[in-house]
Amino acid sequence: MTVTLLTVKDVDKICALYLKDFADGWNKEMLISAFNTGRFICAGAFDGERLIGVITCSKSVDDADLEGIVTLKEYRGKGVATALLQFAEKQLKGVNKLLLEVREGNLPAIQFYKKNGFEKISVRKKYYADGENALVFVKEL
Ligand SMILES: CC(C)(COP(=O)(O)OP(=O)(O)OC[C@H]1O[C@@H](n2cnc3c(N)ncnc32)[C@H](O)[C@@H]1OP(=O)(O)O)[C@@H](O)C(=O)NCCC(=O)NCCS
Repeated sequence: MTVTLLTVKDVDKICALYLKDFADGWNKEMLISAFNTGRFICAGAFDGERLIGVITCSKSVDDADLEGIVTLKEYRGKGVATALLQFAEKQLKGVNKLLLEVREGNLPAIQFYKKNGFEKISVRKKYYADGENALVFVKEL
């Protein structure tokens, strides 16, 4: 597996992966405008030529939001998301904290974040359109 930065040229591949295995994924327009902010970090994991995982983060002055992380279903449980997170953290030089929101019922993701040093700091009630709560996690970098 290799991990590399992705650019706006990769949006179709990123969308295809997000739409396939991650219902909360962004659409193409949202991704393009995120790349255009200049504060967006997007990395992909590859098995040969095949994109098998993506992480997206938005950077501000001294903190960053982890917007999304997804691994293709058939590659889950093999360390792909861990490798993507480690790569993204290296790109976030100068950033003190990494924040994220996750659905309260997304137990694999919650377990993944806890294993990787994130701590729950708050709950956003009915944050998602379907009424599910969001848990807010933070990691000091
Ligand atoms: C969450 C997700 C990104 C994890 O990806 P992954 O590549 O399978 O993760 P890794 O193999 O690096 O897992 C690292 C650790 O996370 C935890 N973990 C991952 N999947 C898990 C699961 N299904 N159940 C419980 N813990 C899990 C484990 O602690 C695991 O360590 P271990 O293998 O030593 O037990 C993946 O399940 C996914 O794509 N889910 C759909 C998208 C999503 O919900 N993203 C998060 C919200 S943005």
